Amino acid sequence: MKILRTPQEMTAWSTEQAVLNKTIGFVPTMGFFHDGHLALMQRARELADLVVVSLFVNPTQFGPQEDLAAYPRHFDHDQELAASAGVDVLFAPTSEEMYPPGATTTVTVKGDLSNRLCGASRPGHFAGVATVVTKLFNIVRPDLAVFGKKDFQQLAIIRRMTLDLHFGVEIIGHPTVREKDGLAMSSRNAYLEDEDREAALSLSRSLELARTMVANGERDAPSLTVAVKQFILSFSGTAVDYISFVDQFTLAPVAEVNKDTVLALAVKINDRVRLIDNGFVITKS
Ligand code: PAF
Repeated sequence: MKILRTPQEMTAWSTEQAVLNKTIGFVPTMGFFHDGHLALMQRARELADLVVVSLFVNPTQFGPQEDLAAYPRHFDHDQELAASAGVDVLFAPTSEEMYPPGATTTVTVKGDLSNRLCGASRPGHFAGVATVVTKLFNIVRPDLAVFGKKDFQQLAIIRRMTLDLHFGVEIIGHPTVREKDGLAMSSRNAYLEDEDREAALSLSRSLELARTMVANGERDAPSLTVAVKQFILSFSGTAVDYISFVDQFTLAPVAEVNKDTVLALAVKINDRVRLIDNGFVITKS
């Protein structure tokens, strides 16, 4: 596996592969790999001739009070995992390479897609994501890119941006990978102490609760929201950021749930760790 550090080296490599008619599958990441990342790499491996993974903790998607400095990093271990997953190139640029002095251009997917849910709690976050993914697409020049569905709003925004800006990159959403107990895998799970674990499970368990209620005939989103909120707050140490039943495409809140409805959740655990999760409330058979 090659490790490339500069955008110039990365684009030169991709250009050579394009001449050889090789397709490139791309997995953008912020590192601290877990099985969820490895599943994205595996999916890219199945779909393309070559796999590029970027590892860049993007400063512009963190708010001033957020965890940029504390974000978990373990480059050597990530390098081993990526190599064992059959990745061809690990692209690990510095902040100065990605945001050269004087850089002022940003990309914003305007409107509700960016402003709702996590966009309301994390102003500027999705502009940071859209900007860095644009840069990465321009540098890596992939044929397809794989993103996890755990970041369901991010995926919707990237799909919109890719269409709007004619990137010509196929966007693949990969199902959330979960721990045995149901917790959605996330690099931020590294912040969870033993005593946070039960509260952290309130997210995946409330997805199950909502599914059961819907299967038993409840369709009214406000009633489901009340039930999910009560359930989450029954776990000690939880504070709800949002609970929203939304349309999978527009992210608009729905009054009645249907087969396109996703329950999106963000919960703060013991005032330290903010976790998100989501899932369809009517599971496809
Ligand atoms: O999902 C992530 O890890 C990040 O938001 C991404 C897409 C790599 C952009 O920094």
